[in-house]
Amino acid sequence: MKAALLASPATPLVMADVDCIDPGPGLVRVRVTHCGLCHSDLTMIDAQESLTPIILGHEAAGIIDAVGPGVSTLAPGDHVMLSPFGPCSQCYWCVRGEPTHCAAAMSMFGGTMSDGSVPFSMDGEPVYRGLGVAGFGELTIVAASAAVKIDHDVPLEVAAVIGCAIQTGVGAVLNTAQVEEGATVLVMGLGGVGMSVVQGARLAGAARVFASDPVAERRNAAVAFGATDLLDPTDIDVVEHVKEATAGIGVDYAFDAAGAGPLVETGLAANRSGGTTVMVGAPAVEHSVTINPAVQFLVEGKKLFGCLYGDCSSQREVPRLLSLWQQGRLDLEPMITARRPIADINAALDDLRASIGIRTVLNVS
Ligand SMILES: NC(=O)c1ccc[n+]([C@@H]2O[C@H](COP(=O)([O-])OP(=O)(O)OC[C@H]3O[C@@H](n4cnc5c(N)ncnc54)[C@H](O)[C@@H]3O)[C@@H](O)[C@H]2O)c1
Ligand SMILES: [Zn+2]
Ligand SMILES: [Zn+2]
Repeated sequence: MKAALLASPATPLVMADVDCIDPGPGLVRVRVTHCGLCHSDLTMIDAQESLTPIILGHEAAGIIDAVGPGVSTLAPGDHVMLSPFGPCSQCYWCVRGEPTHCAAAMSMFGGTMSDGSVPFSMDGEPVYRGLGVAGFGELTIVAASAAVKIDHDVPLEVAAVIGCAIQTGVGAVLNTAQVEEGATVLVMGLGGVGMSVVQGARLAGAARVFASDPVAERRNAAVAFGATDLLDPTDIDVVEHVKEATAGIGVDYAFDAAGAGPLVETGLAANRSGGTTVMVGAPAVEHSVTINPAVQFLVEGKKLFGCLYGDCSSQREVPRLLSLWQQGRLDLEPMITARRPIADINAALDDLRASIGIRTVLNVS
């Protein structure tokens, strides 16, 4: 099959012929039709320590091509959204209902299946599977638990953007922070993930959604997703502005959706006493955060949460998100601002680097 491959760290992706194995027990092989581009792909491309060769892409949807022994819930021809994690349903975290911490699914960060094997090879050499999906290739292998069956009338490109952006952003609001009606919310960073946080805040019934991004086009686009106040962090002091606009109180919830350690500090400073900051973005490993625990945690009682994929249990969450989309309460089509063939992937990555549009979805096969 054809795949866009990261052959070595910090190089453009190259189209390559890659072999994909038959699905083993509990696994399915999927023909990927669409895959969105997420900033986490860029981060992995740019990181000198990234495993290579690897097929990235983790916001994908497609059609079941083959099922392995023991898979009874899916059949060839089924349409599926691919989740970056395929929970085992048996580990400590899965039985607690916390599948984004599933011990087996953590293999996604090592580029392998949960048993340490890789499903792809090129000229007999192993090729890693990026972030649990490998959506930049025509075929992939995932655990059946990572493939969420969807109706044939749901466009597959729409399903794709749920995989990362929507699950992550909406999930961070509804599952991680549990924002309540009437709340005040600050969202920092308005890419696919941040726009999904804004949408999550609207779904939760937030009264005021401050949306901050240096890119004017993205700020303006956030209004249609539910932002009520637009902030340019290069022009104003975000904390001062938010405090002033809330009668000196601060926001109930702040979200970093840009991936920068210092934004956690901004979030906590913008929070009211007792408020919550959620780190949704993925900061560089060398970032750290300075907190004054005596003041911010003890006296002010502020809370700081992290989350992976919005703490979503995909098999439960995706049908719920699609119902909200069908009711017109969750906007999925407007998240897709460009469509390109997989062969144009490097140009699409350049757009992401330059914050052009919101999400590009690649036609993979
Ligand atoms: N936790 C998770 O499970 C998870 C999942 C997906 C993505 N991520 C991470 O979320 C982040 C966002 O992903 P994306 O695909 O939306 O990225 P993106 O590049 O499309 O958007 C990031 C936005 O942040 C803005 N920004 C930069 N500095 C800012 C600042 N100081 N204040 C406000 N905005 C600022 C940029 O202008 C850009 O518009 C990335 O770090 C990504 O790796 C995390
Ligand atoms: Zn992502
Ligand atoms: Zn598990």
